[in-house]
Amino acid sequence: MAIPQHTIDQILDRTDIVDLIGQRVKLKKSGRTYSGCCPFHQEKSPSFHVYRDKQYYHCFGCQANGNAIRFLMDIDHRNFVDVMKDLASQTGIELPKDNFDAKKISYKREAPKPAPQIAPKTQDSSSTATSSEVVPSVAMGFDADPFEAFQNFQEFDTAPFEYEMPFEAPAQEGNFYDLLENVAQYYEKQLPQSQAAQKYFRHRGLSAETVKYWRLGYAPEDWQHLEKAFPQDIEGLKLLGLIRTSDTGRDFDLLRERVIFPIRDSKGRVVGFGGRALNDEIKPKYINSPDSEVFHKNQLLYGLYEGRKLKAQNWLMVEGYMDVIALQQAGISGAVATLGTASNADHLNMLFKQNNQLTIAFDGDAAGQKAARRTLEIALPLLTDGRELKFFVMPKEHDPDSLIRKEGLETFNRLWQQAPLLSDFIFALLSQQYEVTTPEGKSQVMGELNQLAELLPQKGSYKYLLRQFFKEKLGFNKKWQPQINHDASLSFNIRTKDEDFAIAMLMHHPFLYIHFEVLTAIIDPNELLGKVLSTLNRIFDDLPDDQELATYYILGACSPYHLELAEIMQRTNIQALTQAPEMADKLASEYSLSLQEKYLKQKLKSPISLSESRNLRQQLNELTKKIGLRLLHE
Ligand code: UTP
Ligand code: MN
Repeated sequence: MAIPQHTIDQILDRTDIVDLIGQRVKLKKSGRTYSGCCPFHQEKSPSFHVYRDKQYYHCFGCQANGNAIRFLMDIDHRNFVDVMKDLASQTGIELPKDNFDAKKISYKREAPKPAPQIAPKTQDSSSTATSSEVVPSVAMGFDADPFEAFQNFQEFDTAPFEYEMPFEAPAQEGNFYDLLENVAQYYEKQLPQSQAAQKYFRHRGLSAETVKYWRLGYAPEDWQHLEKAFPQDIEGLKLLGLIRTSDTGRDFDLLRERVIFPIRDSKGRVVGFGGRALNDEIKPKYINSPDSEVFHKNQLLYGLYEGRKLKAQNWLMVEGYMDVIALQQAGISGAVATLGTASNADHLNMLFKQNNQLTIAFDGDAAGQKAARRTLEIALPLLTDGRELKFFVMPKEHDPDSLIRKEGLETFNRLWQQAPLLSDFIFALLSQQYEVTTPEGKSQVMGELNQLAELLPQKGSYKYLLRQFFKEKLGFNKKWQPQINHDASLSFNIRTKDEDFAIAMLMHHPFLYIHFEVLTAIIDPNELLGKVLSTLNRIFDDLPDDQELATYYILGACSPYHLELAEIMQRTNIQALTQAPEMADKLASEYSLSLQEKYLKQKLKSPISLSESRNLRQQLNELTKKIGLRLLHE
């Protein structure tokens, strides 16, 4: 019972969490957030916060948190689908019907050909009679109305009877998943029968083990091999698109004389097939079975199931089945490919769920560049804070399959590691297009960048950081420098507190506030950082888009503490930060996590009630887990 992610996102987009929660909880606007008394636990002072821009709520007292869906599920004790139906009707977005009932995964199976002994006995026409006595009641096992009995017999599908009546065994229900599994096994069994197919896989460097692991197979030449192997399932095979009907009405198999790549869904069930011609002269090179009730190419990635089973950490999006398989054989388990379709936002979101860092591989040719640009435009809106995208452009004439076979795992991994981050990649892409040494070229690059940056999520520091990075790279207006001491020996002053670094970051990049916002609920308000955060909370929506102006703005708003701030900015050297916007983002979120940990621990030491202490401990546990996960992903 799956509701596609894009439908969920659409529904959430149209639901305003402040309005929704506002109907149940009295909320008060404070700065950029709304707060009130938490509906999930008893409290007198409000620690329940709702963030409109993040469409998210969080209670610092009991740790309840989530989006609009979670809120409704928890407050009314309802299940997911129930809540979704409600939100769907409120927002006017239709939920896909098909996914709700499992009925659609079945088709009508032909009855097995009646075996002779259960076929109705044809009676000698001379003995045909209508009188009741010719129906031998003993043999029939009844002595009432034969028609009634016939119905009973049909129901129990039992003993032979002698009555002139058309007999048909009832049609059975077939299940698509079972059928697909049987077809996959059939193709697998054909492989040892074909020298050519085995030779093909050998030529492409696949071991017997790899062939078995990916369940590779072969579809023979015969135009009707599936019809012969599955005579009862013609209708099902047609619905799956594996059997087609010609204009003249003859049935034939979609995949013939091709090696077969079975495609599995996230649960490991076979849902479709790709078939590759045995040589490159045959067009099309690949044929994929069409979308069906159980096969939705836009929601699937080849290799995702396998990669997860192999506990892949780092994910790489490649173009073809063979790339996925060759990489896995060489020891890279996180490669996935689309199924002959262009990649879309759902595909990328599926991968971002596995890991916040994702690499996309492209061929080094012109087509690869074009694909890269297109994927970039799809990916940008998904880059919420913390997500990181890398672009791995293959050396000329190579795809991942040929590269790893020629250069081996070590070189491949090294090149992968060196793949540029998004900001560098965009800069390289645009500076290839324009002459960046001329003023005209520079402004064209900035123009294109601004268009791309518009695709980034509205709220988030990344957009702003990216523009800044470009301005610096292009050497636009000499960067304004708040008084920073460039003496390197001072920049590693161990006595500088995390709070001071956070303050310096915020003064340079006030948009990084979104990483520190969570601290407002737990930080000691007498701390300088606490004061800076509450000032930022107040003025955030009015911050100018330009870094220089934004910095002036925040400095102005913090003028009561300007002496302390000037001292901190002199002492800390955070210059290196601006070199990569991704770095600034990452650092800010790391500092925020460690400060959260610190202030939670501090709170725990102060005199508090037992239940509050339990909540804080729980919060701290979750935080420690988060920090641990981060370290793991490093
Ligand atoms: P490519 O044509 O780029 O080749 O197809 P490849 O993956 O390197 O294939 P090999 O190595 O020659 O076997 C990339 C992907 O595009 C889809 C397939 O999913 C393939 O894996 N494709 C390609 C088709 O669907 N139809 C085609 O005719 C070609
Ligand atoms: Mn290839």
